[in-house]
Amino acid sequence: MSKRALITGTTGQDGAYLAKFLTEKGYEVYGTYRRLSTPNFWRLQYLNIFDQIQLIPCDLLDSDSLSEALKISNPDEIYNLAAQSFVGASFEQPTSSGEITGLGVTRLLESVRQSCPNARVYQASTSELYGNNIWAPQTEVTPFAPSSPYAAAKLYAYYITEIYRESYGLFACNGILFNHESPLRGLEFVTRKITNAVAKIKLGLETELLLGNMDAKRDWGYAVDFVKAMWLMLQQDKPMNFVIATNEAHSVFEFVEKAFSHANLDYRDFTISDERFFRPCDVEHLCGDYSKAKKVLGWEPEVRFDELVKLMVDTDLERWTRAKAGEHFPWDAFNYPNENRILSRTWKIDR
Ligand code: NAP
Ligand code: GDD
Repeated sequence: MSKRALITGTTGQDGAYLAKFLTEKGYEVYGTYRRLSTPNFWRLQYLNIFDQIQLIPCDLLDSDSLSEALKISNPDEIYNLAAQSFVGASFEQPTSSGEITGLGVTRLLESVRQSCPNARVYQASTSELYGNNIWAPQTEVTPFAPSSPYAAAKLYAYYITEIYRESYGLFACNGILFNHESPLRGLEFVTRKITNAVAKIKLGLETELLLGNMDAKRDWGYAVDFVKAMWLMLQQDKPMNFVIATNEAHSVFEFVEKAFSHANLDYRDFTISDERFFRPCDVEHLCGDYSKAKKVLGWEPEVRFDELVKLMVDTDLERWTRAKAGEHFPWDAFNYPNENRILSRTWKIDR
């Protein structure tokens, strides 16, 4: 009999790739989605798996909907990927970020404890937990020092996952994943913002790219590699936490330079610093040591920084070229406003 997996946040980047991965492994895949005024299934459609996923409406703010999702899917494995996942927005919406990304995990775990305690649970933890601590590269035992409302909520979620594991014997793992990107990345995250802008500039549809802190360094991997690690964690004899990373750190500036140069453009002609895109507090340097994952899971990243940048630029160029030619396909960028038009807070504090 095929195994059953429930993915929360299946409309997001990782949810879509994981749904594809599990479907190909022969799982019966159930995916939760939020009721929105405009449907948001483009990633599942883009990957051609929309018809293979059983969809369940569910919100991490609503315990009843979580219980119902568990009842309907009766899962062997649960992947909790749903979250308010954008660090920048967590400064603008700190309370709802805490409710969804932090307390939402307790709602889920409590439902699991009550209705399917034998199901295995993956919790999407994050390298943001390390914040601006002084140790690098970061491992599973590096101290945490969260620097945003998002990271504080994820810290709570990390510990509540440990508490449910220790107190009730749930098979629950924290995957401490460093940044992972892809052509399915949301447009507000810096990598996709850059590759989408490069493609538009190259095709004469845009003239500039506004950015914040270009000195920040991140350990950027490929989302397709990373979802495989999530699955591997739930196939072990006992639940453990793992760092998933590439052990390479690159600055936003390096990403920009490489992305423009791949399109034969000079970033200096188009890139502008804009204070709106600086955060009140930023994480400056993340670099993960994935030795434990390599040893225990046999996992290693396949796609590295240079290849990732090229893959993302090429895909966005191809999409804008197709769109310019009048083709319609599942995609997010077509109606997305230029970020110039978004009136968000600036964070200068008068003391
Ligand atoms: P994403 O693309 O932003 O997807 C987030 C998903 O959560 C979406 O499906 C979203 O639904 C859903 N969601 C948001 N609020 C919800 C709510 N109240 N109830 C139910 N679902 C809700 O994020 P991602 O990049 O795939 O990341 C997946 C998870 O890994 C997140 O928990 C993120 O924090 C964590 N993580 C990501 C990275 C990374 O670099 N990508 C690294 C470490 C950890 P809508 O489509 O309706 O908005
Ligand atoms: N988004 C964005 N937009 N970031 C910018 C910009 C900009 O215009 N300019 C500079 N940056 C800098 C941010 O200040 C940050 O230092 C870095 O680029 C990366 O920002 P994001 O791509 O938004 O990702 P993140 O690192 O904050 O968070 C992502 O990775 C985490 C794992 O470390 C998200 O996926 C989180 O959900 C995830 O937990």
